[in-house]
Amino acid sequence: MKPYILILLRLSVFFTMILCNKRMDPRVTHPVRGHWSSSLPKQVANPIFYQSEDHSLFIGGEEILYHYNFEIMKNYTIGADPNICQGKPYCKNYVTFVGQLLEKLTVCGTNAYNPGCWAMAGEQFEKLSYPWAEQMAPLTPEINHNILIAGDQVYSTLSRKSNNGVSMMKTFFRKIHGKTPLLYTGDKFLRQPKFVKSIVVEKEDKIQDKILLFFSEDNIESRTLEKRLSMVAQLCKEDSGSTGVNTRYVFSTALKARMMCGNQLSGQYYPHLQDIYFLQGKTGNVIYGLFTNSWNHSAVCSYDIEDIENLFKSSSLWGSSKKDLGIRPGTCLPPPTKTPEQTSEEAINHPELTEWLWPLKNSTVMQNLYYYRKMVVDEITAANENIYRILVLATDDGNVHKVVELEDGVVNALEVIPFNLEGKLHFMELKSNTHVLYLGTTHEVARLPLDDCDAYNKSCTDCIQSGDPFCGWINGKCESVLNHNRSMIYQNLSENATCEHDSTILFLKGNGDASTNKELSTTPDSTIRNKGDPKMILKHDPIDGTLELKITKVMYPGEYKCTSKEKEAECLFSVTDTGTTIQCIWILVSTVLLLILM
Ligand SMILES: *[C@@H]1O[C@H](CO)[C@@H](O)[C@H](O)[C@H]1NC(C)=O
Ligand SMILES: *[C@@H]1O[C@H](CO)[C@@H](O)[C@H](O)[C@H]1NC(C)=O
Ligand SMILES: *[C@@H]1O[C@H](CO)[C@@H](O)[C@H](O)[C@H]1NC(C)=O
Repeated sequence: MKPYILILLRLSVFFTMILCNKRMDPRVTHPVRGHWSSSLPKQVANPIFYQSEDHSLFIGGEEILYHYNFEIMKNYTIGADPNICQGKPYCKNYVTFVGQLLEKLTVCGTNAYNPGCWAMAGEQFEKLSYPWAEQMAPLTPEINHNILIAGDQVYSTLSRKSNNGVSMMKTFFRKIHGKTPLLYTGDKFLRQPKFVKSIVVEKEDKIQDKILLFFSEDNIESRTLEKRLSMVAQLCKEDSGSTGVNTRYVFSTALKARMMCGNQLSGQYYPHLQDIYFLQGKTGNVIYGLFTNSWNHSAVCSYDIEDIENLFKSSSLWGSSKKDLGIRPGTCLPPPTKTPEQTSEEAINHPELTEWLWPLKNSTVMQNLYYYRKMVVDEITAANENIYRILVLATDDGNVHKVVELEDGVVNALEVIPFNLEGKLHFMELKSNTHVLYLGTTHEVARLPLDDCDAYNKSCTDCIQSGDPFCGWINGKCESVLNHNRSMIYQNLSENATCEHDSTILFLKGNGDASTNKELSTTPDSTIRNKGDPKMILKHDPIDGTLELKITKVMYPGEYKCTSKEKEAECLFSVTDTGTTIQCIWILVSTVLLLILM
């Protein structure tokens, strides 16, 4: 085969895939702008959010901390210490951390290039004198970093100011407070990392507790062409260091692996990690990763926590030739046992696994042409007692998509537009016990109950075909399954579910008097997302008394049934997505032609 033919063939297959990879628009859009949101008194350029136990929100900004309980907004001034940086650009105290630290509500900030922390004492904030407070906040507000608090153990990726004033170029993940020794990762561990998240995975045997660190970093391996790779690192939480004299204070168990997200069958990969959610639910412990590709399209992949552990237990180390080490690199030993020097040397010199972390089923959970930035995952027990997982995905401007994971794929059930003002999303957190989502942008904060069913309240069919396991039909309304006895509420999550006694006329309320052929041009229904110009054609045949309803260009394929009470007429119609199908067929035909021509 001639090389150019091969290239043409690949291109053709590639475009076929792009075109046939439909944009998965939400079935329903629910613009509740302002209904659940409140604006901040002032725009905050880099807001830091903390959701406290009592369900109130703290929002840190430039020398200020807001406390909002969704009724009153209080504020506290958190000024910088007297300083000598006048004239420099960040000569103020920018809050970069708010949270519970050593049992105190603590705020840390840049403090005019002299990072520090303050703890709440009554109505005041008092400066803390922890020697490691300077590693709790960066020098300027936009520096990417990661802080992990696990009980009274504190970890940070920020370095101490060196005595000669030269800032360190290399980044380390280090324990800055807690049980000694205070270890840090080796020289070769991180290459210009950008941190996404860190979590603690607790095991029954505490010695096996792990820290997982998710980040992207420069690629220097020749195995793949990507400039940046998405990585997961694993460390034993009880690591006591190495017996080696020079590596006594280096994490002796830290290893890392490349994270893959994509579809092996179609060869579509999403290299850039955006967000991580650790689902610890009734259906298992699973890491969900949100990834994007260079076109800013998104994919979600899931990884079993056991698979991650097994990978670190079984893979060889990339570039390592040693086999008989006695103790495998990455083995968690009971403290105060230190890792033998031979083993830790291998881990420190060759920290990357040969094998890559592939997602469950070697495929994505979902792919979409939207550019999502944040993700959480919730679980809900539906009326049929099955437990469903809901992916909640948010775009940069804070629009939220509720995507339901089903056996054979996903349904993008709902888009909620919570914010009034245009702002950038900085915060999204789920309180899974109450199923309430908290969001924050540079301008607003919002609280969205995930079991809100108002968007599907048009009719019974609307409600049950929504595909939303949170919602069911009861007493003539679409309501939350959390507020009703599950056996009483009617729910059928299938596309073709019908309501026997549903007498609501879709789009047609109050038009029962249609007597002649007429074409109604409608305003797009706010709850059905329509592309282009939706048209509704209503025909009434005066001889046999039938009503025919046609809707063109609806983005929600499926069958609609409507009945008219007055005339006892019934109309059935279906909308199919012919446009995309034709495109796909056309490209496939050209691919086949190309093959014949060779
Ligand atoms: C802080 O609260 C005080 C008193 O309620 C109010 O007068 C002031 O405008 C607030 N400041 C900001 C920046 O919101
Ligand atoms: C993807 O998003 C980033 C960040 O918003 C933007 O800078 C970039 O131009 C986008 N790329 C494409 C191909 O749209
Ligand atoms: C996933 O792909 C990897 C690499 O091709 C392969 O080693 C592994 O066996 C596959 N796993 C499954 C479940 O198909």
